[in-house]
Amino acid sequence: MKAEKCDLTLKSIEKFGNVYRVVCESKKKLPHMAAGQFAHIKVPNRELRRPICIYDNTDTTVSFIIASVGAGTEAFTAQKPGAEFDALLPLGNGFPILPDVTNVALLGGGTGCAPLLKIAKDNPSLNCTALLGFPNAAAREVYKDDFDKVCDRVCYCTDDGSFGYHGYPTELLTEIAPDVLYVCGAPGMMKTAQKFCADRGTVGFASTEQRMGCGVGACLVCSVRINRDGKEKLLRACADGPVFALEELVL
Ligand SMILES: Cc1cc2nc3c(=O)[nH]c(=O)nc-3n(C[C@H](O)[C@H](O)[C@H](O)COP(=O)(O)OP(=O)(O)OC[C@H]3O[C@@H](n4cnc5c(N)ncnc54)[C@H](O)[C@@H]3O)c2cc1C
Ligand code: FES
Repeated sequence: MKAEKCDLTLKSIEKFGNVYRVVCESKKKLPHMAAGQFAHIKVPNRELRRPICIYDNTDTTVSFIIASVGAGTEAFTAQKPGAEFDALLPLGNGFPILPDVTNVALLGGGTGCAPLLKIAKDNPSLNCTALLGFPNAAAREVYKDDFDKVCDRVCYCTDDGSFGYHGYPTELLTEIAPDVLYVCGAPGMMKTAQKFCADRGTVGFASTEQRMGCGVGACLVCSVRINRDGKEKLLRACADGPVFALEELVL
């Protein structure tokens, strides 16, 4: 599916600490969006767009979970409902869904949980266990009960034990023993997930969140180091990813 420049209006924006739940609407039907693809969003007074993964969508709405971490995301999330902007979407390859596999785990940390929701939502025949990690109970609230609605099981994990399992979600991987693991999170989480998959022969896919420039494969700002066929090479997160086989990522 080719990306389109879509005119969007901010429908609602809810604040949860420094993370925002953003719903945008379009007057026209939006293109099909797959789990793991992203939008390159125009932010006020900034030349470069910012990449944000597609959290959820309908024919005429698209929603995002956005952490305000710098000038661009701060300017975007300071906007009020009714603000108009455009986004290139959908970009990137998305998560592959393998045939004849049902038992999958979605492993996410913080805003890294966002690209995983649509895997469960768009593939109801999968038996999905979500392992979601947060620093504390408040940090999970931005997701409301979205994962509970579409997953067979959701394990919330908090670093401080204030909600759900006290510890890292990676600690629950052995118990779940998925056939396929989808992951997006901090480098430490990715590394542990990679080792889990290597040790058990589990297939894994990871969404990488590199810094980006053009977002369409031209500038090489988003290079990701990949080990393929015994050789290290640089691939572009925007055009060749952002999803890669977990075993290929040089972490
Ligand atoms: C494919 C993709 C999907 C993404 N999806 C989401 C999402 O759903 N929600 C979300 O909140 N963020 C997401 N990000 C990260 C988001 O794009 C960056 O946080 C944002 O571009 C930062 O812009 P800024 O101007 O606010 O911050 P800057 O001033 O550019 O940077 C502020 C801080 O954020 C760090 N940073 C910048 N870019 C990234 C990045 N790509 N990844 C990690 N840290 C970064 C910088 O190192 C710096 O410490 C995604 C990134 C990619 C590549
Ligand atoms: S952001 Fe320019 S090549 Fe990926």
